[in-house]
Amino acid sequence: MPPTLEWVELEDGPALRLLDQTRLPNETTFVDCTTLEQVAEAIKVLRVRGAPAIGCAAAYGLALVAARSSAPDVGALRSELAAAREVLGATRPTAVNLFWALERMMAVASQSGLASAAELVRALVEEAHAITADDLTRCRAIGRHGAELIRPGWSILTHCNAGALATAGYGTALGVIRAAHEAGKGIHVWVDETRPLLQGARLTAWELVQEGIPATLICDDMAGYVMQQGQVNCAVVGADRIAANGDTANKIGTYTVASLCHQHEIPFYVAAPYSTVDFSLASGDDIPIEERNVEEVRLLGHFAARPVTPQGVGIYNPAFDVTPARLIAGIITERGVAGPPFGHSLRRLAPE
Ligand code: MRU
Repeated sequence: MPPTLEWVELEDGPALRLLDQTRLPNETTFVDCTTLEQVAEAIKVLRVRGAPAIGCAAAYGLALVAARSSAPDVGALRSELAAAREVLGATRPTAVNLFWALERMMAVASQSGLASAAELVRALVEEAHAITADDLTRCRAIGRHGAELIRPGWSILTHCNAGALATAGYGTALGVIRAAHEAGKGIHVWVDETRPLLQGARLTAWELVQEGIPATLICDDMAGYVMQQGQVNCAVVGADRIAANGDTANKIGTYTVASLCHQHEIPFYVAAPYSTVDFSLASGDDIPIEERNVEEVRLLGHFAARPVTPQGVGIYNPAFDVTPARLIAGIITERGVAGPPFGHSLRRLAPE
């Protein structure tokens, strides 16, 4: 797997190199971002996407601003970083990891011990590296915990892409799937195509083919049928934000999958780093849901840009939905698996 994102040194200074996910699976191309605007654009149009990955990209975005700044002193650099934080924070509203990573970076920026601009730049680059390296470690731990829930020979349904592409590597939901596969459990994966932007068909299917993990692609509206046929043993998905009571925002269509699992008595699991839990929100009602350009729905596959609707029809394009906690069998984090009731179990996993 090529790296999702990487800090590189170009001749004229550092850059954030992103695997351009809008071009997958047909082209494996990279974009080198050297400005704040390029990083913000890449997050907005989903060149880099998935909650943990956009957190890492935003962290590197602030490091990039600092490393390429011509601010005359530390005070001016801090002001520049505060303005950049606002730009990056306005890119996508739902994934809390974005804001979590920006806060971690701003906490470093405000440390009083960093007297020179050069020291501040070094500290910010190190923090962005740490956020990214930690994410990979967390995904592997999520994989280990989650794989214990998977029995040999199971067929697992997943929605959207919560894989290496959506994280610093390995993935959350796909981390569980990778770990179960590596443990020799002989699993098979049902991949929802995930309309409108086809993260399942384009990205999850691509990752699974590369890893040699047996997988079958279905249209989103086929999930109920394969469950009814007894062909799904569990579902595992990622998360963009988890409220304190366990309500979980994830890619649009996740609630449908969870409801179908409930109907068919199939366990539905969420896999996410602990930083995805937003204890400031009591329930999923308070999670902001991103609404995206209606052209994504009008154009089949969006990136291929072929209209499939008549002009003039109304279109609604919410990018995420909220699955109520009562439909979730377990939330798999790097600290262990939380079970219902989540209000209690999620807090119990908190560090001392
Ligand atoms: O709009 P996207 O592609 O960024 O949505 C991604 C998802 O919904 C993922 O499931 C979620 O971010 C978890 S990624 C580990």
